[in-house]
Amino acid sequence: MSRKMKNKVLENLTIERIASEGKSVAHYNGKVVFVQQVAPGDVVDVRVRKAKSSFMEADAIKIHEYSKDRVEPFCKHFGVCGGCKWQHINYDLQLSYKRQQVIDQFERIAKTPIPEVMPIIGSQETQYYRNKMDFTFSNNRWLTREEIDSGETFERNALGFHIPKRFDKIVDIEHCYLQGNLSNDVRNALRDFALKNNISFFDMIQQNGVLRNLIIRTSSTGEIMVIVQFGEDQPEEIQKVMQFLADTFPNITSLLYIINLKKNETFHDQDIHVFQGRDYIIEGMEDLEFRIGPKSFYQTNSEQAYQLYKVAREFAELKGDEVVYDLYTGTGTIANFVAKKAKQVIGIEYVEEAIEDAKLNSKINKLDNTLFYAGDMKDILNDDFIQKHQQPDVIITDPPRAGMHEDVVNMLLKLEAPKIVYVSCNPATQARDVALLGEKYQVDKVQPVDMFPQTYHVENVVLLTLNS
Ligand SMILES: C[S@@+](CC[C@H](N)C(=O)[O-])C[C@H]1O[C@@H](n2cnc3c(N)ncnc32)[C@H](O)[C@@H]1O
Repeated sequence: MSRKMKNKVLENLTIERIASEGKSVAHYNGKVVFVQQVAPGDVVDVRVRKAKSSFMEADAIKIHEYSKDRVEPFCKHFGVCGGCKWQHINYDLQLSYKRQQVIDQFERIAKTPIPEVMPIIGSQETQYYRNKMDFTFSNNRWLTREEIDSGETFERNALGFHIPKRFDKIVDIEHCYLQGNLSNDVRNALRDFALKNNISFFDMIQQNGVLRNLIIRTSSTGEIMVIVQFGEDQPEEIQKVMQFLADTFPNITSLLYIINLKKNETFHDQDIHVFQGRDYIIEGMEDLEFRIGPKSFYQTNSEQAYQLYKVAREFAELKGDEVVYDLYTGTGTIANFVAKKAKQVIGIEYVEEAIEDAKLNSKINKLDNTLFYAGDMKDILNDDFIQKHQQPDVIITDPPRAGMHEDVVNMLLKLEAPKIVYVSCNPATQARDVALLGEKYQVDKVQPVDMFPQTYHVENVVLLTLNS
C-alpha cells in the first residue's frame, strides 16, 4: 500500500496545522501527510514523495485556495534557498506556532505537569537580524527550471547558499534579508570583481578554484569582520581580492583570509591570516564587551540573545551569594552575563578555544569570580569535580540540539541544585530531559523566545525547582 502511494497525486487536501520542525500537516484517508512550503488553511493538490506505513511526505503541486494567514514572501530566492522557509506566514502566526511547538512537545514527551507556557518573546527585527552569514563560491550555479528549458547558456559561477540537500549546487544570492545591507554590498561587489577579473570560483567536485567561501560578521558596536577562504594558494590573486575589499569597504575593521586546501569549508583547524585591521570584533551587551574571533561562537541574533539571557538571569533569581554552574557555556557569554549577580560562576564546555575566549571575556570585563573548564560534560562533571568546587545553588544549562547526555542528567539529579534553568534550541530534547529530571524537579516557568524569525526554530527557557 505504502509503495503504491509514491508519486500519487492527492487532490484538495486542507492544510490543518504546523507540527514540529515546521512541517505542515494534512490528512488523507486518516493518514498524516506532511507537506512543505504551504500554510494552514491552504487547500492543495500534492504529489507523494515518500510513503511510510504511518505517514506520507508530499510536495504541493497546485494551490486551490490560499490561507488567509499567508503573506507575500519578500525574498526572490524564497522556496529555493531554504533559508527563511516561513516567509509566507504572517509573523504573529509564526510566533503562535512556535509557542504551540513548545506546548506540544512538553505534552507529548515531558510527562510532567507544566504551568501555562508564557507568551513567546518575539523579535523586534524580523529581517536583517543575523550578525553572521556564510556564503559559498561555486562554479556550479543552481539553474531554475525556466533557465534550463530556455536552452540558453548562463553564467554558472555563483556566490550564495547551498540548495537544501544538494551539496554541490549553489543558489546565487542577489539580496539576502538576513543580514544588514553591508553584507549584500560586500558579497555582490566581491562576486562582480571576481567575474570581471576571471578569478576562479570553487569546483566542489574537482576540489579546485581560488574563491571558496565568504563569511561576514557584524556587531551592534558597528564593527565588521570579513573572512575570505581561498581554495588554492595563489598569492597574486589573493592579494588582488583582499586589496579590492580593503579599498572598497574601508569600514571593515577585521579583514581576514584563510587558505583552505581541505575537502571541506570548516576552518577550526586552519591558520587565519590578517590582511588588515584586528583579528576580532567586539560585541556589546549591557555594560559587557565580548571579543569575537573568527573561530568564536556567538549567538547569531544579538538582540534576541540579550532577551534570552535576560530570561535566564531572571529565572535564576540571583542574590549575590550563589554558586552558579553554566553548563555548555560556549564562549562563556551567559556565565559572564550573570557573574556580577553571583558569588562564583563555573562554566564548562568542550571546545577548548571557546573556553579560552570565555576566560578572555571575563578578563576584559574585569570579572574575577568566573572559572572555566574544557571537557566533555559527561566526563568532566563528576564527583571529583564537585568535590574540588562548591556545590551549585543554580545550574544554567544550554546544551546543543541533541540535549543532555543521560549521564549529565543523572549527575544533575544527584547534585540536587535548588534551581535549574534549562535553555534549549530544541524543545523535543528539552522535554525528554525534563521528563528525567521530573524525578526530583518540578517545572515552574516556561518561556519561549524567538531567535530566528521566518524559520520554525524556537528557543525555550524552563525553570525547574527542586521538590521540597
Ligand atoms: C547551544 S550552545 C550554547 C552556547 C552558549 N550557552 C551561548 O549562549 O553562547 C551549546 C554548546 O555546547 C557545547 N557542547 C556540545 N556538546 C558538548 C559536550 N558533550 N560537552 C561539553 N560541551 C558541549 C558546544 O560546543 C556549544 O558551545
